[in-house]
Amino acid sequence: MRIGIYGGTFNPIHNTHIDIARAALEQFSLDKVYFLVAGNPPHKDTAENIPDACRLEMVKFAIANQPKIAIDEREIYRTGKSYSYISLTEIKKENPTDDIFFIMGSDSLLYFKNWVKPDVISDCATILVAPRLGDNMDVLNNAINECKDLFSGDFFLIDYKANGLASSVIRQDYYTDKSVHKWLDSKVEEYIIEHNLYSPYSYHYDDILRLSQEMNKELKSSRYVHTLGVATTAYSLALKWNYPAYTAMVAGILHDCAKCISDEKRISVCEKNNIPIRDIEYKYPHLLHGKVGAFYCKSKYDVFDDQIAHAIEVHTTGCPGMNLLDKIIFVADYIEPGRDKQPRLDILRSVAYEDLDKCVFMILEDTVNYLNENPEMVDSTTIDTYNYYLNEMKGEV
Ligand SMILES: [Fe+2]
Ligand SMILES: [Fe+2]
Repeated sequence: MRIGIYGGTFNPIHNTHIDIARAALEQFSLDKVYFLVAGNPPHKDTAENIPDACRLEMVKFAIANQPKIAIDEREIYRTGKSYSYISLTEIKKENPTDDIFFIMGSDSLLYFKNWVKPDVISDCATILVAPRLGDNMDVLNNAINECKDLFSGDFFLIDYKANGLASSVIRQDYYTDKSVHKWLDSKVEEYIIEHNLYSPYSYHYDDILRLSQEMNKELKSSRYVHTLGVATTAYSLALKWNYPAYTAMVAGILHDCAKCISDEKRISVCEKNNIPIRDIEYKYPHLLHGKVGAFYCKSKYDVFDDQIAHAIEVHTTGCPGMNLLDKIIFVADYIEPGRDKQPRLDILRSVAYEDLDKCVFMILEDTVNYLNENPEMVDSTTIDTYNYYLNEMKGEV
């Protein structure tokens, strides 16, 4: 067998990664290429520190229709520093009779001699180098010749149509330049949106502290304790379902930020800021605390992420087609540790970590049952949401 190993963070994976792997497969008669997905180095900025599981999921989507490309997850699970020479030594040991090829970008080649144990890497594998757009080929060929002099293995260039695309460009421009989306598999693109990756807004522990202190002042003590329960439940659900955990925690902390103000104040905030009020909300103004809370995110608490505002807006009723954060906050609000009145809480708390959609539906079911016993309080949005997820559970959406 001739096995290609393509190392990288794949943050995110894009079409050029696939082009390079396919070119290597063809030109060097490889049987298989494995994307060796690197673990996240701990020093990286949080904004770029996308959960490992998210990068893995995106790679899985991108290679779904590539039978000769697979994933090697070993570096994700390795403790301590992860060096290529360690992985390649292992791979060579596992496949002693196979020929191993290590695929790298031309930027890596230029510094190859400074890597940790480059001699071990080139002993284990033939190095295949993917040039980048604008590379000076004389410089590249000189670097290859220098490596051939210094090390025992062989070095080749991969011939493919290089372009200027890099994962760093996608991370930076994802929300401002839609043209980068065409470089992504459509499933990867959906995943990025759903999981709020590469958002211009990212949150840190300092934000959690600041907003908790604000809520401690703003809310009654029982509401504050509920808020902490929702925030921590949202955090753990986010870890489970691969959503940025601090972003979910911020949404949890702020979800009831407009709960402890008067009905008159809620109505006046909506009227002054052109936030539409439905008849039932005039009748029961506490129903407005989601809408007003969403408004307060930006205007009062300097939290500008639209996904957070939306999750807060719909946290009591849900809405048809909720996104991942909407579901996390909707569920966290219902199952947080301080809740004890709702039926089958033990089951819901377990299902939330097994099947989030099912948990959303079960909560809607219980809510509709409760509202049927109290018909004067029925908000049509809850019924619409219930019907949407009822159809989804039947596979009709
Ligand atoms: Fe609420
Ligand atoms: Fe709540």
